Amino acid sequence: MADPKREELKVGSKRAVLVGVLPPERRDERERAFDEMTGLIETADAEVVGTLLQVRDKPNPATYIGSGKVAELKQLIEQTDAELIAFDANLSPAQGKAIEDETGTVVVDRSEVILDIFATHARSYEARLQVELAQLLYMRPRLTRMWTHLERIEGGIGSGRGPGEKQLETDRRLVDRRIAELKRKLKNVEKRRERTVAGRRDHMTVSLVGYTNAGKSTLMNALTGADVYIADQLFATLDTRTRKWTLPNWGDVLLSDTVGFISNLPHHLVASFRSTLAEARHADLLLHVVDASHPDVEKHIKTVNSVLNDIGVDSEHPLLVFNKIDNVSDRATVDILRAKHTEGITVSAVQRTGLEKLETAVAERLGDGYLDAEIETSVGNGRLFAWLAEHADVTDREYTDSRVTLSCRLPRKLAAAIDEEGTTVTLLNGHGEL
Ligand code: GTP
Repeated sequence: MADPKREELKVGSKRAVLVGVLPPERRDERERAFDEMTGLIETADAEVVGTLLQVRDKPNPATYIGSGKVAELKQLIEQTDAELIAFDANLSPAQGKAIEDETGTVVVDRSEVILDIFATHARSYEARLQVELAQLLYMRPRLTRMWTHLERIEGGIGSGRGPGEKQLETDRRLVDRRIAELKRKLKNVEKRRERTVAGRRDHMTVSLVGYTNAGKSTLMNALTGADVYIADQLFATLDTRTRKWTLPNWGDVLLSDTVGFISNLPHHLVASFRSTLAEARHADLLLHVVDASHPDVEKHIKTVNSVLNDIGVDSEHPLLVFNKIDNVSDRATVDILRAKHTEGITVSAVQRTGLEKLETAVAERLGDGYLDAEIETSVGNGRLFAWLAEHADVTDREYTDSRVTLSCRLPRKLAAAIDEEGTTVTLLNGHGEL
């Protein structure tokens, strides 16, 4: 396929001006309005050389910012020698094109910056497929803009049905074909993944979810001793990683790290990453990791909950983990958080504080998924003993002749598996059926 000037749209190593709109009721956030977008731009390897913020009720439908601001933007581009305009919003294809036409400078929106970052961070086969699919779905309605852009560069503008238009039709067909192919490949990967996740049914699973940069990977390392890549970067983790986590006095669970969330996460990306997030959907418990030192902590919690709802996870369910408590200078912030989310646990993954409390809370939450039972069987039932050694916590053994009665605690979902002649299972904690 002729590359429809994808390179033109890449954020990497460009000088960028940031543009945004803030509604009047959020006027007092002006100072830090661009903090997150600056983080995104820098993660995408570009440099912020100027910002332009407009306070207005609603974005302008044609150019997002008002016409006076577009003139100001042109001046700013000249003064700063910027090569890229990055909007801290998701623009319609028409808005992007209108601003490019007015300013003669390449425009990217928030989705595109995030897509660029995802594209550079995608490591596994699955993540790469997911990112490419999201990129193509994003690009398809914008192909016209890319070709107009190319034609203008080549001096072809206004020349009627130019080569770009014919090429556009060809490209659309090629893009559609590739989209179909990627979806097919992802379905296969997804089936395999569902099988893997289902295959873990003999262990309880816990998934870490949270806003990007909240400290999920750091916490995973602190809890499991795993060597997970950590960077002060957004979306350092795109692939799900799973490690064994031993909860004191309880047993082993599997702990998974997942992709970070962000507000206005492009919905193509959420859709593409559904299968990666299968880990979170099937987990017995979610730990929602929050950067307690961030000024937008409540907003981050809401965003994560809404993405969780999007992927079909009940957001009432997660256990909140307030991380980076070492970085909170104002105690009142923590008190407010604690008062509002009474079940939240405060930790510092870096200083490894609060981890015991967290482990106890997790064990308590998972406790519901366990039951106490007495299992009576033959003393020669080596197969069952081996199975119990792996899956259950055996607390007592009583021998009578050739029989043994084992007192144990085992995952509720596994209890039904002990179904063999000559072995009797008696439930002790009265939760009824297996
Ligand atoms: P994504 O991959 O973007 O989703 O990030 P993540 O949530 O996995 O965050 P990660 O563990 O990569 O940490 C992000 C940054 O926060 C790193 O610079 C960490 O060192 C820092 N960090 C993590 N936990 C703590 C903490 O308890 N205290 C402080 N001060 N910094 C922390």
